[in-house]
Amino acid sequence: MTRIVAVSGSRSADSTTRAALEVALDAAADAGAETEMTDLGAVDLPLYHPDEDPQGDSEALKRRVREADGVLAGTPVYRGSYSSTFKNFHDFCGSTEYENTAVGLLATAGGGSYGGTLEHLRSTFRNVHAWTVPHEVGIRGASSVVDETGISDEDVRERTERLGRVVVEHAERLRE
Ligand SMILES: Cc1cc2nc3c(=O)[nH]c(=O)nc-3n(C[C@H](O)[C@H](O)[C@H](O)COP(=O)(O)O)c2cc1C
Repeated sequence: MTRIVAVSGSRSADSTTRAALEVALDAAADAGAETEMTDLGAVDLPLYHPDEDPQGDSEALKRRVREADGVLAGTPVYRGSYSSTFKNFHDFCGSTEYENTAVGLLATAGGGSYGGTLEHLRSTFRNVHAWTVPHEVGIRGASSVVDETGISDEDVRERTERLGRVVVEHAERLRE
């Protein structure tokens, strides 16, 4: 069965990023995938240290990515880029973990601008040789559109559900 893992790069208990990723993950499950959420606010992942790898849950998280066929990567927009929490996770996983892995990108913004964040994710996922899908989701004014019950804006919800489906489609191709 195709396995899709979402990785949420917010430490907020009421994270809109995690809530939006749940919508994409549900769509991936409806498309037939086995799914799992990784909330980086709820794991033990110390700041990456090149002399001290593995650390905390790092080996289990790396294995989770290695065994996944697709990853839904989500982050809040922080200072026009992605969060330090996501960057820290990114530093643990390299091309071995992302080999033949489809990746879908999602960013939530407090304001109206998420383009830089998605570009920074795209270029750094290219660096680890992930197969980043062209479709991506940016959510402006996220706190007024997303909560734990889902996404209230229909267009944003449809885009987010499509992200989940597209990642499953590409993950299945990479398994062939
Ligand atoms: C340190 C920090 C920096 C932020 N920088 C930006 C920013 O540059 N642009 C923006 O639109 N929102 C910015 N925000 C707002 C967050 O992107 C927004 O609240 C996001 O939805 C939070 O996601 P979360 O609920 O998953 O934590 C920032 C928030 C924090 C805490």
